[in-house]
Amino acid sequence: MEKLVIEGGSRLGGEISVSGSKNTALTLMSAALLADGPMKLSNIPALRDINTFAQVIGFTGAEIRYDPITHELEMDPSSLTRFEAPYELVKKMRASFYMLGALLGKGGAARVSLPGGCAWGPRPVDLHLRGLEALGAEIKFEHGNVVAHALGGRLRGGVFRFEPSSVGATVNLLLAAVTAKGYSRLENAACEPDVVVFCELLTAMGAKIGGIGTHTLEVEGVPMLRAADFTNCPDRIELGTFMLTAAMAGKSGEVLRMTGAEPKHLGDAFLTAFTQTGTPFSWGTNFVEVVVPEKIQPVNVETGIYPGFPTDLQAQWTVMMTQADGNSKLRDTVYTDRFKHIPELMRMGANAIVVGNEVVIQGNTALQGAHVMSTDLRASVSLVMGALVAEGETHVHRIYHLDRGYEDIEGKLTRAGAVIRREKYDEWAGPDEGNEG
Ligand code: EPZ
Repeated sequence: MEKLVIEGGSRLGGEISVSGSKNTALTLMSAALLADGPMKLSNIPALRDINTFAQVIGFTGAEIRYDPITHELEMDPSSLTRFEAPYELVKKMRASFYMLGALLGKGGAARVSLPGGCAWGPRPVDLHLRGLEALGAEIKFEHGNVVAHALGGRLRGGVFRFEPSSVGATVNLLLAAVTAKGYSRLENAACEPDVVVFCELLTAMGAKIGGIGTHTLEVEGVPMLRAADFTNCPDRIELGTFMLTAAMAGKSGEVLRMTGAEPKHLGDAFLTAFTQTGTPFSWGTNFVEVVVPEKIQPVNVETGIYPGFPTDLQAQWTVMMTQADGNSKLRDTVYTDRFKHIPELMRMGANAIVVGNEVVIQGNTALQGAHVMSTDLRASVSLVMGALVAEGETHVHRIYHLDRGYEDIEGKLTRAGAVIRREKYDEWAGPDEGNEG
């Protein structure tokens, strides 16, 4: 097992690079399965989730090669023969469920393990399943697997409304609709940048999609998609994470530059809230500059679907608000119980109270270094952010969660002035390691 050991107190400066978007990359890899030959995806981040999904895709027999140095991924689905995604792989990453739509879109059949829940409770897939049935898929359940097939070997167009709007379900239905026979309309579809860029690749591959970037997508199915090389967009959640880190852990008055960034993908709600904290920032072609403020103003936020405040920046916002000059409140309307980071931040001295899907955060809190436990991807990065400003040393345990979505975070933060190292540890060693009980 590995942990990050962080000595708090050094103030950050200089540059932090933003990697390719994890969540968009997963959609692009799914789309490549539908191609009629080999294709190359660029700016794919070197992350656990990418490796996991590459294993899932490799299980089908499709050829896939990823180079973590060039960040290029090459795939040739011509040798795909197994229309399956097994539990051992799907359990590691929920987005493996995209294989359902991809395999149905590719060959009209799929046997995919149902994804589990996650650290913050059940993550239903009812919209995915009912949506695919609306496109003519026959769905059965066998020993924890979804077994789906298209009557007559090819799905047909249909109309489906997502309630609530769902990124994953929108991606899965697009993977199925683009090669279905006839017209489909997806209503209340997700329009996160991940979905927009995904649609741009599908269009480059010959798919016929109208309404891209809106909540209503119209698709005219085509028999087969052609291969198309494509470059992934930057990771908006990593960018937002580093902007918040700069504001709370940067050297007052310093300018921190995030390179390889696309700030428009953060959405107005986040950019407005960030401005309200009194943190000046500007942006140019693929960079954002943040001027570290003397004081951070408390700002109440509520998460929502795009262009609302991203739920994936909720934990990071919370830890920054412990350093604000006053109390604040945050409500998560997307996931009502995504607060596993709060007890860990409280071990570091934070004062926060969770009531339902809201958390009230006390500002002006001096955090102290402590042993803390990662529980999920975004919770773990909030612990790292707290550790950067804490007094003393913090050990962030189980950072396999962090490695799922942040490429070389200790390298990036070290280059910006943080004192941080990765260490192996035995989770079950004596009393001075791991957590009690
Ligand atoms: C995507 O998850 C992201 N993951 C998540 O990021 C992100 O938190 C989430 O969207 C919301 O923005 C990837 O893109 C791989 P949803 P997804 O389906 O698609 C409900 C990270 O940290 N729902 O949009 O699984 C669901 O309960 C990860 O990078 C149903 O009710 O999320 C939730 O309330 C964590 N039925 C809402 O929709 C369904 O069938 C949004 O979930 C599906 C979803």
